[in-house]
Amino acid sequence: MAILWWFVGVFSYLLTIQAMPPAPVVQCNQTGCVLYNAYGVWGDRKDCRVQNVTYPTTEEELRLAVAYANRNKLKVKVVSRFSHTIPKLACPSSQSGNSVLISTAKYNSSIEVDSANMAVTADAGVSLRELINKVEEAGFSLVPAPYWEGVSVAGMISTGSHGSSWWGKGGAVHDHVIGISLVVPASEAEGYAKIIKIGPQDQLLNAAKVSLGVLGVISKVTLSLEKGFKRSITYNFTDDAFIENLFMDHAKKYEFGDITWYPSRQVAVYRYDNRVPLETPGDGVNDFLGFQSNIILFSKTIRATESSFENSRNVNGKCILAESFVGFKKLIANGLKNGLIFTGYPVVGLQGKMQTSGSCLYSPPIDIASSCAWDPRINGLFFYESTALFPATKFGDFIRDVKKLRDLNPENFCGADIYNGIMIRYVKASPAYLGQPEDSVVIDFNYYRADNASTPRLNEDIWEEIEQMAFFKYGARPHWAKNRNLGFLGVQSKYPNFNKFIAAKKQLDPQSIFSSEWSDQILLGSEAADKGDGCALEGQCICSEDKHCSPSTGYLCKNGLVYKEARVCRYSPSSIV
Ligand SMILES: Cc1cc2nc3c(=O)[nH]c(=O)nc-3n(C[C@H](O)[C@H](O)[C@H](O)COP(=O)(O)OP(=O)(O)OC[C@H]3O[C@@H](n4cnc5c(N)ncnc54)[C@H](O)[C@@H]3O)c2cc1C
Ligand SMILES: *[C@@H]1O[C@H](CO)[C@@H](O)[C@H](O)[C@H]1NC(C)=O
Ligand SMILES: *[C@@H]1O[C@H](CO)[C@@H](O)[C@H](O)[C@H]1NC(C)=O
Ligand SMILES: *[C@@H]1O[C@H](CO)[C@@H](O)[C@H](O)[C@H]1NC(C)=O
Ligand SMILES: *[C@@H]1O[C@H](CO)[C@@H](O)[C@H](O)[C@H]1NC(C)=O
Ligand SMILES: *[C@@H]1O[C@H](CO)[C@@H](O)[C@H](O)[C@H]1NC(C)=O
Repeated sequence: MAILWWFVGVFSYLLTIQAMPPAPVVQCNQTGCVLYNAYGVWGDRKDCRVQNVTYPTTEEELRLAVAYANRNKLKVKVVSRFSHTIPKLACPSSQSGNSVLISTAKYNSSIEVDSANMAVTADAGVSLRELINKVEEAGFSLVPAPYWEGVSVAGMISTGSHGSSWWGKGGAVHDHVIGISLVVPASEAEGYAKIIKIGPQDQLLNAAKVSLGVLGVISKVTLSLEKGFKRSITYNFTDDAFIENLFMDHAKKYEFGDITWYPSRQVAVYRYDNRVPLETPGDGVNDFLGFQSNIILFSKTIRATESSFENSRNVNGKCILAESFVGFKKLIANGLKNGLIFTGYPVVGLQGKMQTSGSCLYSPPIDIASSCAWDPRINGLFFYESTALFPATKFGDFIRDVKKLRDLNPENFCGADIYNGIMIRYVKASPAYLGQPEDSVVIDFNYYRADNASTPRLNEDIWEEIEQMAFFKYGARPHWAKNRNLGFLGVQSKYPNFNKFIAAKKQLDPQSIFSSEWSDQILLGSEAADKGDGCALEGQCICSEDKHCSPSTGYLCKNGLVYKEARVCRYSPSSIV
């Protein structure tokens, strides 16, 4: 079985050539428009309907679009051409009648490198890849980047997107922002909307860097650059015995280090990753496996297999999948390539080719044989993504707790190890009001999400326990662009400068035209008053009664196994009547 998967993997790895780019995220007909995210769904499975979408191409058109919304008292949100955020932040309203959407898909023409000041200024809708390519052509490098390149310049900073680093200004992109132009509502005399330029010394920059789109529309972003460099990367697939002792040193020793932990396999993959001079030989590429095009048949087969293991409660099947995937990743170095393929460590390449990837986004649509694995058109992968940012000082204890949970039954963790296990990265303390107030360690984990919201998942109690442990026992902060609603509970109290952010919001957008019930839900982090049946299954609530889980299929509300205060939906078969 494992061998079979392994061959299917190698086969599809060698064969991916033609890709189907993602579908447009806004689709309209005569009656209105629907906004999708890249996964084709929003947290609660309800569409985001809007009356009108506009595609400005210049800053003045952007200003007019905001003026139109303000004059007509419409709710308004801005979305990029990617819409890669999981929470419904970019949705202006639940009623399409009174809302408009501004897309930056066509506002992407200008990228200006200022060599003298080592900075670049780009239009909001410019993609990260376009930005990086321009910057590198001019002999510079952008230091931080999320690992996924399918994001816009403004969208990525607005949710606090990050790579991994405690060095220099750190791994979060917004901490390299030195200027922002923002379009905000204005009085009638000022033409209903105006552009404000926020410079490096302005206090307001700390609000505008990470703003979740609720302050106004970012028109331009200026980022600081460094002299061009290369990166040298080695992955060490080793045992996971010492993560809790090593993670601090790892971050100090390697500028861009990270750790991928596969708890069920007892494997930790240390990424040794430092910058090296441009003269260092090597023309490597980081083409991360998870972001490569997958043969559609392969993605569908994995999904179908995963679903059948879910339906038959076959944990062992999941473990076999996890084992073969981890083996395959080791073989191909997660997608690092010295040239056409991986031939050995270290892999050295230009920063622009090593810092971020997303090859499933491109390729000519000659054939529709392949796509991103999660493309909603193909019934491919569908999963949750929880991302928690811990104060570094608390992270060791969290790992110890997760190990206790794992040691009770390692097989319970196979479901995440089919994806990327628990991925560990570093983000430095930031002056941004909604950035990390202290040096932090980030974890990311993905796990199966059923097609039907009322279908529970295998070992869901484990994921819920880790989620609650992270956010409530250890006070981790949720990544603004990921997570299920419960991750945001009490979020305000986790940011010492939260009130300063709210004050800036009141100042810039006093009528709250850029706020919606969706963004309020995230930003204000309060639990819904009426907890509906099954609300815990999709992370809309923490269960307090069995009906918040799925009693008819045997999932009841129970205490956590290690973090006893957690309340989780656990399969308790004797309960089925
Ligand atoms: C496969 C994948 C991998 C990822 N990997 C990482 C990772 O490694 N690290 C990480 O930190 N994140 C990661 N993310 C999350 C991603 O970086 C964020 O979701 C990012 O915000 C997406 O950018 P976008 O351009 O698609 O923004 P959108 O989703 O379009 O918008 C995000 C938010 O920004 C606002 N916004 C967009 N444009 C503007 C504007 N012009 N002015 C004001 N507000 C605006 C929107 O209203 C919304 O609130 C990943 C996501 C995916 C799907
Ligand atoms: C238009 O789109 C909406 C939302 O997707 C859908 O409900 C409606 O049936 C569509 N109408 C037509 C005429 O296609
Ligand atoms: C859509 O919005 C634009 C402004 O962005 C406005 O000019 C246009 O009239 C609107 N169309 C409809 C049908 O509301
Ligand atoms: C702007 O985006 C479009 C896709 O929407 C892309 O084809 C084009 O290359 C981008 N323009 C620039 C200057 O990068
Ligand atoms: C990998 O890590 C182990 C410790 O777990 C260490 O002993 C070994 O030397 C490392 N390998 C490399 C190539 O650095
Ligand atoms: C989801 O499952 C529930 C319960 O099994 C069922 O009542 C409902 O019809 C299903 N919904 C969809 C969209 O299939």
